[in-house]
Amino acid sequence: MPTPTPRHAELLEHRAEFPLLEAAVYLNTCSLGARTERSRRHLEEFLSGWDNLGARAWYREWLGELTALRDDFGAILGVPGSEISLAASVSAALAVVASTLDPLHRGDDAALGRLRDAGVPVGSGPRKRVVTTALDFPTIGHQWLARESLGVELVVVPTGDGLTVSVDDIAAAIDERTALVAIGHVFFTSGALNDLDALSAVCRERGALLLVDAYQATGLVPTNLGTSDIDLYVSGTLKWLHGGPGTAFLRVRPGLWDALLPTTTGWFSSARQFDFAVDALDLAADGRRYELGTPSVPSAAIARGGMELVREIGVERLSERTRDLGDLLIALADARGLEVRAIRDPERRGGIVAIGADDPRSVVNALADEGIIVDFRPGIVRCSPAFYNTEAEVERLVDRLAFHLGGAGVTVS
Ligand SMILES: Cc1ncc(COP(=O)(O)O)c(C=O)c1O
Repeated sequence: MPTPTPRHAELLEHRAEFPLLEAAVYLNTCSLGARTERSRRHLEEFLSGWDNLGARAWYREWLGELTALRDDFGAILGVPGSEISLAASVSAALAVVASTLDPLHRGDDAALGRLRDAGVPVGSGPRKRVVTTALDFPTIGHQWLARESLGVELVVVPTGDGLTVSVDDIAAAIDERTALVAIGHVFFTSGALNDLDALSAVCRERGALLLVDAYQATGLVPTNLGTSDIDLYVSGTLKWLHGGPGTAFLRVRPGLWDALLPTTTGWFSSARQFDFAVDALDLAADGRRYELGTPSVPSAAIARGGMELVREIGVERLSERTRDLGDLLIALADARGLEVRAIRDPERRGGIVAIGADDPRSVVNALADEGIIVDFRPGIVRCSPAFYNTEAEVERLVDRLAFHLGGAGVTVS
């Protein structure tokens, strides 16, 4: 019987625009997405603008590019670019978010009143707690651990199976002391996809805000922020947006703009930025109100190349092909008797498939010596095939993993 053509095999035509794919079997997009040649073109335009226009490039080109960048993020997430705030990293975006919540932790009457006016049933007492999970990225917890001296308490919901944290367990941790639930859309080690509708319903009911760290989901998991109740959404371009380091963003639900006022701020948040008034701060009427200082324009140029591609292909197709490759990886690893530590239902999985290993660092280094790039986290080799990987690359990865981990049916080469 002829082998059926895989879904969206046409996407492999894009391989030629990723130089890294020539150099390696690259299965580490969840750490750093490969770069398309489109990014080089955008970066060269940035450099030409600098050389030809000097500071005039700000007004003639660069501010426009930053607006286009916000529009790119918005288009991928179903909202206008004016709702997007640029940041240098997710951590920087979280620092701004954390600053908006300080009055809630203190039980400030005016701040609580503003939130009630915005429809969030916060009640009238202090909300000192922030709930996150044991599977979340460290920077989430760090933001609020750093505020312990201000009386803030971080509550970390444990995981039972090392892969997931149930909505019920998270719900049990939320009470009238909870200001915020902060959780990944896709967990960065297990690849589990969280049910954001269920989480926002629980948060809404109990008067807590919901923050989603979507770094492992944006560009991979179809998401429409326009029709969702997510209060705060942070993400960046390093991974599934193929946009490199230096660019991240925040989207605060517009209904909360007047209730969540930043105390960590900068002149890019000002409504009248170019009035240069040192004695007046009027926050911008749109998402820029949560921005800080001069953004990294070269990073923005690089990021625009990645997002051009993501928008052209569409997140739906990217998601389907990535999940099919994940299914293949799991089936092959099972057949070799490897310890698959991943979510088997593709509808509940992002782009990560982890394989258990006693010494993952040495396995990852041995694979790198053979030209196969994956990465490690404690106890696992973390693999993340993306749309541009071939089925043959996934087969080769599993074959070599089985060799290094002592699995069954190894091809010795
Ligand atoms: C889930 C998640 N959040 C956040 C980050 C990074 O945060 P930052 O932009 O602050 O470096 C990563 C990876 O680098 C991640 O996987």
